Amino acid sequence: MKPMDIPTDVNVGLDDVMLWGVLPYVVLAVLIGGSIWRYRYDQFGWTTRSSQLYESRILRIASPLFHFGILAVIAGHFIGLVIPESWTDAAGISEHAYHIMALSIGAVAGFGTLVGVALLIYRRRTTGPVFMATTRNDKFMYVVLVGALLAGLATTLVNVFDPTVTDYRLTVSPWFRSIWIFQPDIAAMAAASFSFKLHVLWGLALFAIWPFTRLVHAFTAPLQYLFRPYIVYRSRDPQGVGAAPVRRGWAPVGTPDRDRRNIRR
Ligand code: HEM
Repeated sequence: MKPMDIPTDVNVGLDDVMLWGVLPYVVLAVLIGGSIWRYRYDQFGWTTRSSQLYESRILRIASPLFHFGILAVIAGHFIGLVIPESWTDAAGISEHAYHIMALSIGAVAGFGTLVGVALLIYRRRTTGPVFMATTRNDKFMYVVLVGALLAGLATTLVNVFDPTVTDYRLTVSPWFRSIWIFQPDIAAMAAASFSFKLHVLWGLALFAIWPFTRLVHAFTAPLQYLFRPYIVYRSRDPQGVGAAPVRRGWAPVGTPDRDRRNIRR
């Protein structure tokens, strides 16, 4: 077999059918159904449970590192899993150039995310009040999250150092796209190398626990916050007269002068 070729003699067993044909839909049902359930029955618990009040020095570095890192990882996954190889071929990007780009940018993003999460966990363990506010649920979530990240980075290493590894754009990616048209290409995923299978299973585990953890905050991230003015200016004058001087004496009811004086009182 040439390196990077996909084996054509794949035996699709019952385990493959369960893992790559049934499990993704079970996970999707849990993710969507669980999120609706959580929103309806635990809306007050739908929060990051921020610990910024307890400690902000490490958080100021670790949180952006993790969040910007994971956004880059998500963008990389979108390109690698959603855009077919034939499209990048047609755009004149050779397979070799694509992989060099994907591996280098992906590795930096993945490593940055890992350092970010490592700092977050260190902070959580070493800052007393933050540790006290850490639940078993949080700890379990961190294990699954870090497991998915490590397994992802392992696939990158295997990609670089193992010449017999199968090309994920011919195995994992077609399988991923087939899920959304409800015709799971089980054989494609069954042909993927073990490292990819392990990583995808960690990823699925993370999506399955998502609705029941603090990670739900990602669905309701306040994006408008990024574009808010630092100081919110608000006119005291509903009529918009602004800095007009207030006249002395009585003012008729309903006139701007009258309202302005009422507000100041
Ligand atoms: C079912 C869902 C997922 C699939 C199909 C998938 C697939 C892949 C594939 C094919 C690669 C190799 C990319 C390359 O070497 O260029 C990869 C890498 C990676 N994955 Fe995933 N993944 C999934 C979920 C996740 C999740 C949930 C996380 C993080 C929490 C994650 C984190 C990573 C990281 C850090 C890498 C290393 C390279 C990079 O940064 O892109 N993956 N993944």
